[in-house]
Amino acid sequence: MGELGKLRLGVNIDHVATVRNARGGATPDPLRAAQIAQEAGADGITAHLREDRRHIQDADIEGLMEMLTVPLNFEMAATEEMQAIALRHKPHAVCIVPEKREERTTEGGLDVARDENRLAHYIAPLREAGSRVSIFIGAEEHQLNAAHRIGAQVVELHSGAYCDYYHEGRFDEADVELAKLREMTTYGHSLGLEMHVGHGLTYDTVGPVAAFPEVMELNIGHFLIGEAIFRGLATAMAEMRRLMDDARGV
Ligand code: PXP
Repeated sequence: MGELGKLRLGVNIDHVATVRNARGGATPDPLRAAQIAQEAGADGITAHLREDRRHIQDADIEGLMEMLTVPLNFEMAATEEMQAIALRHKPHAVCIVPEKREERTTEGGLDVARDENRLAHYIAPLREAGSRVSIFIGAEEHQLNAAHRIGAQVVELHSGAYCDYYHEGRFDEADVELAKLREMTTYGHSLGLEMHVGHGLTYDTVGPVAAFPEVMELNIGHFLIGEAIFRGLATAMAEMRRLMDDARGV
C-alpha cells in the first residue's frame, strides 16, 4: 500500500458539556477542552447544538467561534432556528444531523433521500454564507446520491453500527458494516464528495476506517472524552492520532 495522506482528526467536545450540565454549573468547561484539543493537534473541533440543549449551549458556540484557531464543525438539526444560528456565526463547516427518530434512516444517519427538496433549499443559504455543508448519513448509495444532488460538499458516514457490533463481539456483523463503509466511502468520493466518518470510534475500531484511502477526516468524541478522564485529553488524543497515522502509513 502506498502512502496515504494524513487524516484530519476532529474532536467532538459535546460530552464535556454533558458532564458540566449534570450539575448545572460552569465546570468542566467545554471551551477549555477545545483549547487543550487544539493545542494537542486537533484539526478541528466539533460541537452539536441540540434543539433541547442537553449538552452544548448557545454561549458555548459563541465562545468557540471567538477562541478557536482551528475550524469549527457545527453539528445541527435542519431546523429554522439552527439555520439562523449558523448564518449568524458562519462556522467553517456545518454538519446536518438527524435528531428525531423519523428523520433517521435504518443506518441512523439523516434520511436525505426522503427530504431531498426541503434539504436542498435548506442548505443553499448556508453554502452561500461560506460554510462547508456536510450531511451525516448511513453508508447507503441512495443517500449518497441524494446528498450529492442537494449540493452538499461533504458527507460524513455513520460508523456507529460497525463500532457497536465490534464492541459486542459480533465481529462478522462488524465486518459487514465495515465493508459497507469502505465501499460507500469510495462511491461518495467518486461523486466528488469529501468523505468523513464518525460516531462511536474507539482505539479498537479506528484503524480499519482510518485506512480507507478516500476518507479525509474522522470525528471522534465520546470515547476520547471518556478516556481523557483517566489519561488527560492530550494523551488520549495522541494515542488516537498514532493509531490513525499507523493505519495510513504516515
Ligand atoms: N459525527 C457526528 C455527525 C456525530 O453526530 C457524532 C456524535 O455527536 C460524532 C461524529 C462523534 O461520535 P462519538 O461521540 O460517538 O465519537
